[in-house]
Amino acid sequence: MDRIRIVGGQKLNGTIPISGAKNATLPLMIASLLTEDRLVLENVPRLADVIQLQRILGNHGVDVMIAGKRAGDEPNIGRTIELSAKHIVDTTAPYELVSTMRASFWVIAPLVARMGEAKVSMPGGCTIGTRPVDLLIMALEKLGAQIEIEGGYVIARAKNGLRGGDINFPKVTVGGTHTALMAAVLAKGTTVIENAAREPEITDVADCLTKMGAKITGAGTSRIVVEGVAGLNGARHSVLPDRIETGTYAMAVAMTGGDVLLQHARPELLQAALDVIAQAGATVTPTNEGIRISRNGSGLKPVDVATAPFPGFPTDLQAQLMALMTRAEGTSHITETIFENRFMHVQELARLGAQIQLNGDTATIEGVKRLKGAPVMATDLRASVSLVIAALAAEGETTVNRVYHLDRGFERLEQKLAACGAMIERISG
Ligand code: UD1
Repeated sequence: MDRIRIVGGQKLNGTIPISGAKNATLPLMIASLLTEDRLVLENVPRLADVIQLQRILGNHGVDVMIAGKRAGDEPNIGRTIELSAKHIVDTTAPYELVSTMRASFWVIAPLVARMGEAKVSMPGGCTIGTRPVDLLIMALEKLGAQIEIEGGYVIARAKNGLRGGDINFPKVTVGGTHTALMAAVLAKGTTVIENAAREPEITDVADCLTKMGAKITGAGTSRIVVEGVAGLNGARHSVLPDRIETGTYAMAVAMTGGDVLLQHARPELLQAALDVIAQAGATVTPTNEGIRISRNGSGLKPVDVATAPFPGFPTDLQAQLMALMTRAEGTSHITETIFENRFMHVQELARLGAQIQLNGDTATIEGVKRLKGAPVMATDLRASVSLVIAALAAEGETTVNRVYHLDRGFERLEQKLAACGAMIERISG
């Protein structure tokens, strides 16, 4: 298994190109199941989760074509992929394929909407607390699907097609909103989704579905209205920049000091996180090319933050912020309100010398003067990258094990950081 070796203490200076968002790419690829025509996606990141989803879609009969690399192509520019679901040959998504990635469960919506049936294994993915699918099932039921749960599989049936309905989520759920949206676009009649997730990736998917001929209003607000249509056509869509990757590198620069342009990043996608980074003492400057982050000299200030659905501070940046606060001059508090148990990074950060107390869903972090390198590992994507951030500022050498978690969500992480002066390398095997 690959490891990443980091020798801390270097400032970061230069440019980091921000990739297309993983959390938009996955549902966009899944949306290809809704049409017989070709869906072309640009700015797709090179990630293990994308490859895994290609396998899952391939099993349903989707042809996935990836434009080959040509001489002179920039490695920093995302790939273009073409997906064609002309013939769906199988409406079952088996355990072996779905168990490694939770978002793959979302194929259930387009499959039942277009084919009238779907059988999808209960999902797996990051081990961050219980992550049920009851609200996704509720949304499908509201649109007329009959649901059975059998042998670890969810079976959804709508022999005469789905019909519009009112879905009121008791809790904001990104996956639930994607599911409701993808089911509603082909349902007969009007669907109203209340308390919808407002994450930018929902808006990006809704934009793409609209290009495909769907009738959607209100995406990006908590009330989305969908007029079902009889069929959808192909489209070409460019994936929006990854706000979690942006926030992660912004915190890395805040941690080490230096001056980095996060190219292609869009501030409005992560304003809450940028505000916290500024409060911690870094300078955040939006530019025409992206966002510049710099910090020189002065120490880090502590912050009090609670995670919340968009536009609040994202849970997917909670671990990275905690890494940053391990070096603040004072006491910080971070409350996790989205996922119970999303604190696996606490123990590992402690191996580097961090002082963190957990009390229920709140972590109290006493900033320390120095962190010291150590072997660490994590079982979740965002937790792994928090260890990288801490290691960049730790004295001596840190090895981060189980790098496959990072490869799921961060494209060319070590190259991007090394290009800005970090001492970081991948050790294969
Ligand atoms: C998505 C993101 C993930 C992010 C999360 C929250 C993708 C691929 N993943 O995950 O990176 O951390 O949003 O921003 O986009 N819940 C239920 N029942 C359900 C569904 C969810 O109780 O049926 C709960 C969850 O346990 C959690 C909360 O709702 O407490 C939010 O989860 P949700 O927004 O659905 O997360 P995901 O879509 O899985």
